[in-house]
Amino acid sequence: MSALLVPGHDVRGATPIGGRPGSVGLSLERLTLSLDGRTILDGVDLEVAPGRITGLAGESGSGKTLTGMSIMGLPPERSALGGAIHYRGSNLLELGGRQRNALRGREIAMVFQDPAASLHPMMSIGTQLTDHVRHHLGLSKKTARDRLVGLLGEVRVPDPAGAMRKYPHQFSGGQLQRIAIAGAIACEPHVLVADEPTTALDVTVQAGILHLLRNLCDDRGLTIILITHDLGVMSALADTIAVMRYGKVVEVGDRADVIQRPAHSYTRSLIDALPDRVGAARTFAMEAE
Ligand SMILES: Nc1ncnc2c1ncn2[C@@H]1O[C@H](COP(=O)(O)OP(=O)(O)OP(=O)(O)O)[C@@H](O)[C@H]1O
Ligand SMILES: [Mg+2]
Repeated sequence: MSALLVPGHDVRGATPIGGRPGSVGLSLERLTLSLDGRTILDGVDLEVAPGRITGLAGESGSGKTLTGMSIMGLPPERSALGGAIHYRGSNLLELGGRQRNALRGREIAMVFQDPAASLHPMMSIGTQLTDHVRHHLGLSKKTARDRLVGLLGEVRVPDPAGAMRKYPHQFSGGQLQRIAIAGAIACEPHVLVADEPTTALDVTVQAGILHLLRNLCDDRGLTIILITHDLGVMSALADTIAVMRYGKVVEVGDRADVIQRPAHSYTRSLIDALPDRVGAARTFAMEAE
């Protein structure tokens, strides 16, 4: 249990409407980030419902990744953060370095756009993934290894035991993304930030990763923040969609509402720019409902 969890404490943002009991959400309140005097996040307000997939959409440079990095406690050097990230009764921005480090990768994890970048090229998959789990959970080498082999199987990496002995260059992009996701969920985080998890992958591989994320949310109650500029991916997967522009959330709502009845002209322009893909995704979304 986290040292931050205070029984009976008023947990702001942990149970927004539509969330799933037993899962943990978070909320951003007027989150700001400035870098070298430039305002990059300009007061981001966002409720991330527990056990649901909250999508962050928006054009390149709108601040999606830096929102995710701020939640992870990894803002760029020299940047200044303001506002609040409410999580289990604490404002993450007020935590000390040790408390923050204890959460990162353990309770709040992230998968990055380029899976190869999050894996060390010179270390076997088994070594790097088990080191991470042993560090956070204090497990024996064998227990950590068994857990990882099970997880690699769960995310459908072929021959999980053999995969532990291999190195990143021996896998395809889609397999590496599955491995990165297994690594990210190995410590059973409450929240997973997935930054463009399928952008580097070809379309057929994308669908498998999207289903994997959906299943992790539905089966494990994982709270997912899905960052993507691709509204097609977004509308196929997210329960709630938030649209960012110039460092602010300009529209947020239920997936079907945002895609079918966008309130903001900027959201409409994003949807109009992708007629075929979103048309297909709308069909997918409606079939799934
Ligand atoms: N490490 C950094 N140092 C300096 N500026 C940065 C850094 N990371 C991002 N920025 C700037 O902050 C702004 C927001 O960047 P961010 O990466 O959050 O955008 P994004 O919405 O994720 O875009 P994309 O869709 O291209 O990934 C951009 O103007 C970007 O140039
Ligand atoms: Mg980005």
